[in-house]
Amino acid sequence: MKKNILIVPGDGIGQEVTAVGKKVLDKIAAKYGHEFTYDEALIGHAAIEATGNPLPDESLEKMKKSDAVLFGAVGHPKYDNDPSAKVRPEQGLLKMRKELGLYANLRPIKLFDELLGASSIKPEILKGADILFFRELTGDIYFGEKGRKDNGDTAFDIAQYSRYEVERIARKAFEAAMTRGKKLCSVDKANVIETSRLWREVVQQVAKEYPEVEVEHQFVDATAMLLIKDPKRFDVVVTANLFGDILTDEASQIAGSMGMLASASIGDGTGVYEPIHGSAHDITGKGIANPMASVLSAALLLDISFGMKQESEDVINAVDQVLKAGFRTGDIADATTPKEKILGTDAIGEELLSRI
Ligand code: NAD
Ligand code: IPM
Ligand code: MN
Repeated sequence: MKKNILIVPGDGIGQEVTAVGKKVLDKIAAKYGHEFTYDEALIGHAAIEATGNPLPDESLEKMKKSDAVLFGAVGHPKYDNDPSAKVRPEQGLLKMRKELGLYANLRPIKLFDELLGASSIKPEILKGADILFFRELTGDIYFGEKGRKDNGDTAFDIAQYSRYEVERIARKAFEAAMTRGKKLCSVDKANVIETSRLWREVVQQVAKEYPEVEVEHQFVDATAMLLIKDPKRFDVVVTANLFGDILTDEASQIAGSMGMLASASIGDGTGVYEPIHGSAHDITGKGIANPMASVLSAALLLDISFGMKQESEDVINAVDQVLKAGFRTGDIADATTPKEKILGTDAIGEELLSRI
């Protein structure tokens, strides 16, 4: 199969981990006789430095034309520590999601058995946990009107959802539940927030189309607790943009590390595949970032955008084999990991490649 893939590394460890993700795609192409061609585009701080714009039109055009995008991360401490900055790396990411219509962000939380000891949660609570989050990605407080008044002393961000936005993400989540454990948990804050009341009303309505799916509604505060108390109780979870952002960072501890969590952002056109982690400037340039989240994002890309199920399985199996062989990056190592088994980004990448 012929496909063109756009690599959008962004900032910080985004550069380091997408390099490994790309090598993995290349290895798959060689193994299966596919013809993958690559281009690169700028986003985030890297794009601001080069053009003054966190998402230049040229990058957006390339994204629209490509068959799939492998994205790294954006962000820079310069902006994190300067609340007054008007142009920010994150604006590039949000614009990419909006312009490409990427309303559904799938975040699978699956614990590889070998990493039972990497989490701070007890193994018997974790074993068998397998959750698929559907985070709405183009609405909510992220995209409503925001600003200042009272000479800058009052700030506001409007959270807004329309019925169709909730309906389409709910349908995607129900469809997925039908192919899995037929359980769906919708997370909101309908006891307080009006957008959550619309959310719950719409999910209840869509649920009627899927009588086989067992539905529960949970408040977001209780969900934060239940995820740690009993992660196995969840199958598919659907929630709004901000709640999904926060809950999935929490849920990364079920999988052992932020460095293990991949995601697929899908919608009307080109799909974007991205780790859930950020640019991690605390470890940038040290060569120690875990590339698994990017590699597993590449696996989602192969499966969802290209329909290459076996190829995708091969990548996931390679991750499993590397872990079974005892290799770890620092973030997933524990007290029992021998020093010589703790590898850097490129070295663990080589271990992965040799198992595809
Ligand atoms: P982060 O995800 O970058 O890092 C959180 C912690 O997890 C850090 O200690 C980091 O070292 C560790 N970590 C993350 N990914 C790792 C990996 N692959 N391997 C090993 N350790 C890893 O979140 P943060 O520190 O809150 O944010 C840093 C910057 O990233 C900010 O500018 C933020 O806006 C941005 N950010 C971007 C995205 C994105 O582009 N999708 C996501 C989250 C944060
Ligand atoms: C993520 C990030 C982004 C988000 C930020 C950087 C805009 O945290 O991809 O999870 O909040 O969506
Ligand atoms: Mn996040």
